[in-house]
Amino acid sequence: MSVKHFLTLQDLSSNELNHIIRRAEELKKNPGLAVAQPRKTLGLIFEKSSTRTRLAFEVAMNQLDGSTVFLANADSQLGRGEPIEDSARVLAGMVDCVAIRTFAHEKLQRFAAYSSVPVINALTDDFHPCQLLADVQTFVEHRGSISGKTVAWVGDGNNMCHSYINAADKFDFQLKIAAPEGFEPNADLLNTHKSRVQLSRNPKSAVQDADLVVTDVWASMGQEEEQNQRITSFAGYQVNEELMSLAQSDALFMHCLPAHRGEEVSASVLDAADSVVWDEAENRMHSQKALIEFLLTP
Ligand code: CP
Ligand code: NVA
Repeated sequence: MSVKHFLTLQDLSSNELNHIIRRAEELKKNPGLAVAQPRKTLGLIFEKSSTRTRLAFEVAMNQLDGSTVFLANADSQLGRGEPIEDSARVLAGMVDCVAIRTFAHEKLQRFAAYSSVPVINALTDDFHPCQLLADVQTFVEHRGSISGKTVAWVGDGNNMCHSYINAADKFDFQLKIAAPEGFEPNADLLNTHKSRVQLSRNPKSAVQDADLVVTDVWASMGQEEEQNQRITSFAGYQVNEELMSLAQSDALFMHCLPAHRGEEVSASVLDAADSVVWDEAENRMHSQKALIEFLLTP
């Protein structure tokens, strides 16, 4: 049987994804139900910074009686140019699963092509599927099924936005994106999912009647030098109380974090009662634990 990877949400069926969400909620309520993974090791290759994703994998694996090995770019041979294809085969000989956070999505795909153990996308420039497991779990926890709901994405057409497009397809919701000119999501991806996704330049129309409003930083990791220019380009795209007032009265607010209060989101929205960002962050651990259980249990 070919090995199952989790590079984007498209790697799993809707049934499999919904199973992981249900399981994440089950394990949150009753951690003792988890299928232990003794003597199993998860390798973590991170070429970008992380708090939540790394913590979630390390804590989840620990609670599953397995272990993790963290490889930072600066002090592994990968960082000195050892071919990704060679590194993939070396790791697969010693660990049972690998999670990778890197820049080019293509690098992750090449690693996975040479890996005989499951590879998980811990964030690339193009996608962040683990975050979507936590986001959907959090929505379900607070409001029930996300199927048939309307989600508004306000801001950059980035890795998170791309994973929201995939999620609209897999979890059956409508996605209304408002992004400024030059910062739209990938056109091919949009086109593939055009029955579920609408793109506009208007944050107000995107959030109209939305059940969930989501945003993310204006400059992602690797774009730090564009930060000042982007603040100008994204003027008018801040999620603030005025914008939230156009959504459904019980609309939730999410942000994958870290957030920049006063830029993409006002402090009053991030810290409001309808903001579920802390549950969203905690659910990274429960959903990644459910993902590991799914990938590692025969
Ligand atoms: N949301 C998220 O992926 O956070 P980290 O960058 O801290 O892992
Ligand atoms: N879009 C952000 C997400 C961080 C979790 C980034 O890539 O930096």
